[in-house]
Amino acid sequence: MRFYNYILGIIAIGLIAILNTSCSNNKTTNIDEKEQHFVDSVVNRLTLKQKIGQLCQFNTLGNINQMINLVKNDEVGSFLNVNDPEQINQLQKAALESPSGIPLIMGRDVIHGYKTVFPIPIGQASSFDTSLVRQACSIAAEEAASDGIRWTFSPMVDIARDPRWGRIAEGYGEDTYLASAMGIAAVKGYQGDNLNNPKSIAACVKHFAGYGAATAGRDYNSTFIPERQLRNVYLPPFKAVVKSGCASVMTSFNDNDGVPSTGNYHILTDILRFEWKFDGFVVTDWNSMSEMINHGFCADSENAALMAVTAGTDMEMCSRCYADNLENLVKKGVINEQLITERVKNIVRIKYRLGLFSNPYVNIPQEVKYSQKNLDVALKMSEESAILLKNEKVLPFGSNVKKILLTGPMADAPYDQLGTWCMDGESSHTITPLKAFQNSSYEVVYIPGIKYCRDKNTSEFQQVINAAKTVDAIVFVGGEESIMSGEAHSLSNIHLQGAQSELISQLSKVNKPLVTVIMAGRSLIIGEELDKSEAMLYWFHPGTMGGTALVNLLSGKAIPSAKTPVTFPKSEGQIPIYYNQNSTGRPASGKEPLLDEIPLNEKQTSLGYTSYYLDSGFGPLIPFGYGLSYTTFSFENLKINSNTFSINDTIEVSFNIKNTGDYDGVSIPQLYIRDLFGSITRPIKELKRFARVAVNKSSSIEYTFKLPVTDLAFCGMYFVDTIEPGKYKLWIAEDSSLQNALEYDFEVVIK
Ligand code: NOJ
Repeated sequence: MRFYNYILGIIAIGLIAILNTSCSNNKTTNIDEKEQHFVDSVVNRLTLKQKIGQLCQFNTLGNINQMINLVKNDEVGSFLNVNDPEQINQLQKAALESPSGIPLIMGRDVIHGYKTVFPIPIGQASSFDTSLVRQACSIAAEEAASDGIRWTFSPMVDIARDPRWGRIAEGYGEDTYLASAMGIAAVKGYQGDNLNNPKSIAACVKHFAGYGAATAGRDYNSTFIPERQLRNVYLPPFKAVVKSGCASVMTSFNDNDGVPSTGNYHILTDILRFEWKFDGFVVTDWNSMSEMINHGFCADSENAALMAVTAGTDMEMCSRCYADNLENLVKKGVINEQLITERVKNIVRIKYRLGLFSNPYVNIPQEVKYSQKNLDVALKMSEESAILLKNEKVLPFGSNVKKILLTGPMADAPYDQLGTWCMDGESSHTITPLKAFQNSSYEVVYIPGIKYCRDKNTSEFQQVINAAKTVDAIVFVGGEESIMSGEAHSLSNIHLQGAQSELISQLSKVNKPLVTVIMAGRSLIIGEELDKSEAMLYWFHPGTMGGTALVNLLSGKAIPSAKTPVTFPKSEGQIPIYYNQNSTGRPASGKEPLLDEIPLNEKQTSLGYTSYYLDSGFGPLIPFGYGLSYTTFSFENLKINSNTFSINDTIEVSFNIKNTGDYDGVSIPQLYIRDLFGSITRPIKELKRFARVAVNKSSSIEYTFKLPVTDLAFCGMYFVDTIEPGKYKLWIAEDSSLQNALEYDFEVVIK
């Protein structure tokens, strides 16, 4: 039987391989004729020097005259970090009047909002709400465009399975499918229906590729991702985002298996251009071209320029390898000018699509910034991104809770609450929990207890404990300052820092309901704090409107619905831990003996051993996809259109979602599958669909997921995307633990 399946698999591989032959065809397809004609006519008349200028992006020089001179001489095609609309207009005027007449593209890191700050991306992913993410990114685009920025270095779709890595904050978590869905939503939000709209900005998906797999979670560290894992885990979100029309791609800092991304022909050309038919442009990360010298991959700046330009890098950010060497490389005959011309065309094509040639000037009213509409969306997103990890009948607060003790280092931290990568949002606009409580009907006693998250000073603790005895409930708000996550901010200890745990511990002894609220950039190790609190709301930094969202959530005006987009480990030693691992030959299950249970002088044996830790078992603290609400749901009455499917079929899974609790709420059903046997070992479960479904209390709604069988394809034994025939399992679940999930077996056959 297995052999038979294997043979069928080979046949299927052949079939899919044939379907995929277009992958090796290197023609780009999206380019329309008018556009092509325009781009050709602009680029073909440029001198070599002018072409090279287009490939250079420099950071703001501060001095406008210096920048204008570069522009006048056609030595630059883009600036990053200029965001004064007047300066931008001056620079654009100089660009149009320069010999090349090509407008600049002005870039900036608009990562989770521009002025109105939304939750950090990992928090946005917790909402499992793609339409809200799209709305947030469209607001970010309009606010940024009002200052003349038409290009953001976002979204980041790096899959991250290691919370020590500080940049886990900037992405959409550990799951390929969720990150793809979020990335597509972000691009649609930034770019709108048409890049030509002055409110749209070009997106830049990053960091291509594998950056999130930095060894030991230490930023910029090397990665070692084999080709199949790259194609099954790390590349799919990039592919999805590119296919959705993302205008640009940023190369990553890391070297994967010895090859730095900026000089990696395989990913930048074979995969991105030939297989995916990307027709936008590729920009390096900051100095990552010259850093190929530090990597020991390039001998010098000329060699770096040569490796990058031949690999497929169009624009260089900050360093000067292209500016200083490309002309010589062409003159020496090492590279053909045609290669440079193609690189320039990729950039000019996007400038054309943005409408910069017809109007490069700022023309969005300034009033869009912090508008009520924008703040309302930020509030909704903060509410939807708060993950309720525990609730022992404390929340929402009842009428018996009138007086509250508000404590902890993040209760009034207007800057830190905004999170990492917040270049433009002003903390003066932040609504902190303190501000929001002061504007509520609750009587609030506020004593921070700890001044900032790393603070070890416990001298205010007694005062906090005394106050705790006088209130109806305690709300501790702690976590991480924004600077503790993000770029170059990795940690090896991801417990709560400073004296925060100690304060939680003392508060838990007061005998008053203790609600712990965390605002952090990563999934921290919070097992002890969870045990000591009656309720816990976990937030990845929630942005401008976090305080209002908190009061709404605690009072029941808003009902939690978020789910975690990452697995929470029990200890650092479990990292990397993620839900969709492979089975292994000895999967752990049930109860495995832990250290304390092993008798003294127990004999060594290889019998019955499974894949787990003696000191922390095999399960996580909190599984991917987990999150409570104030109400409860059950799934029932599973119906599937068949139990046998062929390649062109769509699996239709219907089920009822019943609200079994006391509040109207939003359920997030998750569809997982398992391919039981494959040409390579397969994950024990994989998220394939999710939805947000509002269900009122005491009602039930039928919901249907549609899953084309082609979505079961993966990169198999022969490095080709394959749908392999055979047996599968499917679950409709509340989270990846699959507890209480509805389960179904089906088969994919070759008809
Ligand atoms: C370095 C970061 O890695 C990247 O994400 C960012 O977009 C650039 N700097 C530009 O600021």
